[in-house]
Amino acid sequence: MYDAGQLCDNSSLEVMKKVLVTKRVFPEAVEYLKQRFAVDYVGTDEGLPPAELRQRVNGVDAIVSQLTDKFPAEFIETLDGVKVIANVAVGFDNIDVAAATRKGILATNTPDVLTETTADFAFALLMAAARRVVEGHAFVHSGEWKQWTIDLLAGQDVWGRRLGMFGMGRIGQAMARRGRGFAMRVIYHDAVRQAAEVEKDLGVDFVSKEELLREADFVSLHVPLTDGTRHLIGTKELEQMKATAILVNTARGPVVDEAALAEALGRRRIAGAGLDVFEKEPEVHAGLLKLTNVVLAPHIASASVETRRRMSMMAAENAAAALEGRRPANLLNPELWRS
Ligand code: GLV
Repeated sequence: MYDAGQLCDNSSLEVMKKVLVTKRVFPEAVEYLKQRFAVDYVGTDEGLPPAELRQRVNGVDAIVSQLTDKFPAEFIETLDGVKVIANVAVGFDNIDVAAATRKGILATNTPDVLTETTADFAFALLMAAARRVVEGHAFVHSGEWKQWTIDLLAGQDVWGRRLGMFGMGRIGQAMARRGRGFAMRVIYHDAVRQAAEVEKDLGVDFVSKEELLREADFVSLHVPLTDGTRHLIGTKELEQMKATAILVNTARGPVVDEAALAEALGRRRIAGAGLDVFEKEPEVHAGLLKLTNVVLAPHIASASVETRRRMSMMAAENAAAALEGRRPANLLNPELWRS
């Protein structure tokens, strides 16, 4: 067990580099760091309020952060002596990487280990929304189920339909393979088009944003949150989708205008949604909480035990590499690395 704020007991503390771990992670990651560094481990799930985080970073060499820790430019500019911010997430919109680069601070993330796990969950949300799994559970649980009827909780087929994806990076590709496994036609749109061999291999077709919205039975989001993708799906886009369409978001909440989505789902402008991420987590738009045609999850797409363990270790290894003068495996600002 690790107590909040526990500092590694080591006689050579003054010469050891210091790592701040801002929230609870899997214990092996803390053990790994403690074998090498003085570790200030905040072993709680709440982590540190912003003001406390700003105090606790004083004198640290590395920060193992999570997506709930915010590192805007003006905070990063104060991080004297910090060599690396190692985020336990593939997404890094919580860190101003350009500001970190200007300050000479390495930033790292945890890609690859969560790709298949996250795509599994995106497909689970798609299936759950299409086949009304959560409504079925609630129906049985409430004792309302009296008999088999011809259209009881009848949903939509997934097999053979059209999957439209925004983003064809690692997780997007894993989602596309799942769609192909269900004999879906997969179309996608992205800022950067994949090479022809990749498209052929995956069996996916590149289309315009408008065509995707018009043609897809399922629209799944796999883009990072940037200024260009904020509110990628808003009122205008929802109006372009089929009335039978289902939206799946496992990317980042602000990629969707949540108020516009709640409104569109409420008047059945689109048929349903499966959402793992929200604009102001852990808050969820009140309109969404009232609806039965949306499946809600608390940002758990990468949360298999093994994957979260591997993400914890990967961030610890990235921090250790940076402090020991080795190139971290998952460097977000490689321009800082001179070997
Ligand atoms: C989770 O959302 C992640 O970015 O890893």
